Amino acid sequence: MAQPKAFLFDLDGVIVDTAHFHYQAWRRLANEKLGFDISEEFNESLKGVSRTESLDRILAHGNVTLSPAEKENLATLKNDWYVELINKMTPDDILPGINAFLEKTRLAGIKIGLGSVSKNAKPILERIGILSAFDAIIDGTKITKGKPDPEVFLKGAEELGASPDECVVFEDAVAGIEAGRRAGMKTVGIGQPDILTEADVVLANLNNMTIEDLRKALHF
Ligand code: BG6
Ligand code: MG
Repeated sequence: MAQPKAFLFDLDGVIVDTAHFHYQAWRRLANEKLGFDISEEFNESLKGVSRTESLDRILAHGNVTLSPAEKENLATLKNDWYVELINKMTPDDILPGINAFLEKTRLAGIKIGLGSVSKNAKPILERIGILSAFDAIIDGTKITKGKPDPEVFLKGAEELGASPDECVVFEDAVAGIEAGRRAGMKTVGIGQPDILTEADVVLANLNNMTIEDLRKALHF
């Protein structure tokens, strides 16, 4: 049976629950600076999307038009609020089952990559103490196109010396699953099956998941 050669993990919402912090910071910005609210349902369309694209989507949602300079200021303010939230994180914030699953992956001889469009990815991994678990880190500083563009995952595969059909992408975002599929990789959705409808497999989390069960589920 073919062996998967590399696992590519999204960060926000897969390794740590920072997806919630992004929502909190964007919601505060919408409430305090733009005069409208954003729902959790609308927030699904922001997951996996870059900072500037997220702001554009929020402004379009509220029918607000701003100059490039005003947009830049708001994006910076959102990031300042977001950084305040992530600065309080500790290793206890790693999502259930992640440490054990990364260890099983390593023992199975499968390479571990990060595929995140966040520019805060490295400081977060350092803060929660798992930077060294990754053989390659592709983050917002290394890419020019956010998800759903496949660039982030294709770069990850390249750095890990794997072809796309030897890679598995782990994602909590609709845009991220699309990026993985467009890269020609198998996709594992972490979240709800009714939201992540395009994923090959959807799991609530990686708690107790084995490499063997995953291989079977993905028909590797
Ligand atoms: C993604 C998040 O991982 O990173 C998005 O899912 C976020 O919500 C994007 O907008 C960019 O992150 P940052 O930290 O560079 O603003
Ligand atoms: Mg995510």
